[in-house]
Amino acid sequence: MKIAMANDHGATTYKLEIKKMLEEEGHTVIDCGTDSEESVDYPDYAKACADKVLSKEADLGIVLCGTGIGISIAANKIKGIRCGLCTNTTMARLTREHNDANILALGQRTTGIETCKDIVHAFIETPFSNGPRHIQRIEKIKQLEK
Ligand code: RB5
Repeated sequence: MKIAMANDHGATTYKLEIKKMLEEEGHTVIDCGTDSEESVDYPDYAKACADKVLSKEADLGIVLCGTGIGISIAANKIKGIRCGLCTNTTMARLTREHNDANILALGQRTTGIETCKDIVHAFIETPFSNGPRHIQRIEKIKQLEK
């Protein structure tokens, strides 16, 4: 799978560790930065990841910041993005099954690294349910974007 990743300075450590895990598992990671702990603005990185997902260069995206909140808010402003901030594997599974989320958000200051790795696996391994009621609700989200 091709996965775009992006983060602010508050989550560089987790991004690099999760990227390493994914690459060791045979996935291709498109790393949109940042790679340092020098202060940056998370909306810029939310957009960089979203662009890769919307252009279909990446199948899914993962964004990270200190809490995961700022970067998920920013990603969800971008038309076509459904970004789920997850702190456990149930949320990750359900945001794929029900919301067809195309970007996962994680927080380095709020969620342990092992839990984040499990969340990533649940997110990338779970397909959208294609359930009619979920399709209908996603269509209504798309209406809100207009
Ligand atoms: C950066 O200081 C911090 O605000 C950011 O990583 C994130 O937690 C915002 O939601």
